[in-house]
This record gives sequence, C-alpha cells and structure tokens, in this order.
Amino acid sequence: MNIINVKNYQTLSEIAAAVIAAQIIKKPDSVLGLATGSTPEGTYKNLVEMYRDGILDFSKITTFNLDEYCGLGKEDPNGYFYFMMDKLFSYVNIPRENINVPDGTAKDVDYECAEYERKIRRANGIDLQLLGVGRNGHIGFCEPDDVFYNETRQVNLTESTIEANKRFFASAEEVPKTAISVGIKTIMSAREILVLAGQDKAEIVEKLKSNICSPRIPASILHYHPNCTMIFAENA
Ligand code: F6R
Repeated sequence: MNIINVKNYQTLSEIAAAVIAAQIIKKPDSVLGLATGSTPEGTYKNLVEMYRDGILDFSKITTFNLDEYCGLGKEDPNGYFYFMMDKLFSYVNIPRENINVPDGTAKDVDYECAEYERKIRRANGIDLQLLGVGRNGHIGFCEPDDVFYNETRQVNLTESTIEANKRFFASAEEVPKTAISVGIKTIMSAREILVLAGQDKAEIVEKLKSNICSPRIPASILHYHPNCTMIFAENA
C-alpha cells in the first residue's frame, strides 16, 4: 500500500477528487465503489464543483456503496442512502438506476446480500473503490474479527463503531446494531483502491505502516492489493 502524507484535510479532499475525476475522464462508464462518513465529504464536495464547472460527466457512471445500516430506509436522514443523496447523488447526473446502496430494510437480508454481489459482478466489478477507515481498522463495516469475511453480509457493529458513529444520531442507543456490508473479497476485487484517513486516524495509520496483516485490523489486508493508495492528512 502506497501511503501519501498530505498536510491537511483540504489537500486530502482535492487529491482524492482529482483521482476520482481522472478515473471518470479516462473511463466515462466507470464503476465506482463509494464510502460514507465524515472523511469523504470534502471529496464529494469537490466532485460536485467539478460537475458544475462542466469538467465531469457522470451520465455513464455506476456506483456501489459499501454499506447501509439495517432497519434504515432510503428516507432516513441517518441512513447511508440519504447521506449519499445529500452529499453527491442529488447534485450530479448519475442515472438513478445506476446508483446501488444495500437495502437496509430488505426482508430477506441474505438474498439482498447475495443479489448485491451479483449486481457488482454483472457490472463487471469495481474500477475504483473509495474507502475510509475506522479507528478500529474497519473498512466498509468489515469489523475486527477472527477471520476475514469475504462477501456481502449482515454484520454486527462493534461497540467502538457504535461509539464513533453516535455523533450522527441523537444518542448511542439509536445507532443500529447491525448493518449490511460488502465483504473483504468484494473490496479487494476492485481494480484500484483509494483510502482516505484524517488525523483522527493517526493511531490506526501508524499500525497500518507495519507489514502485519490480521483480521483484527481488517484494513491491513490492503497491503496485499496491487494498486492501493492511502492519502493521510497529518493535520486534518
Ligand atoms: C462507511 C464506511 C466506514 C467509514 C469509517 C470512517 O461507508 O465504509 O468504513 O469509512 O467508519 O468513518 P469516518 O470517515 O466518519 O471517520
């Protein structure tokens, strides 16, 4: 994994948007894997600006988000579908039918997970996967565990993730305890991966600099990806 240190969050967001923009320009029908959370917000803002300036055209783009909380529907302001509409999708011309976010309200969760994997395969896989990283080393909602979980499935969120994400909810009790998340194999199958980490992730980034690879630090698998870059903002 190639780690690029940049001085602040603004630079992180500008570089990340430039990498995604280059992908869209090189391959206008790219399949993008997208993340939610605070870290990519600046990147999405820059992409929206590039679209408004006429630099980018999203009309042939397909997107797959990493995860969604179980129980939260598309209209729920705490859900990730809503987040993506609010930060990116409402402002650019991605055809609605090309937008994919796991359905947190699916009655048959196993079917939803298997179908999500099939949809990614039918789209011929992900060209560029954007990732954030949790303080506990999670990617998507692949939480620290005894093994790496490969495919999209329902996951139990750890206490530390619930604690970290309660800022988006009225209280920790309101944070759903489970989510649908793509798996490690799904992420590792992307042709290119771009990981964003701000200063609040300094501790986990330090761990990732060593060559250990363990399911206790899911992001450590990224060392084995042939085309993975992390942008770390030292003073974000
Ligand atoms: C969300 C996701 C998570 C976040 C991670 C960091 O779709 O995939 O892995 O990227 O929890 O979140 P922030 O950026 O809020 O620190």
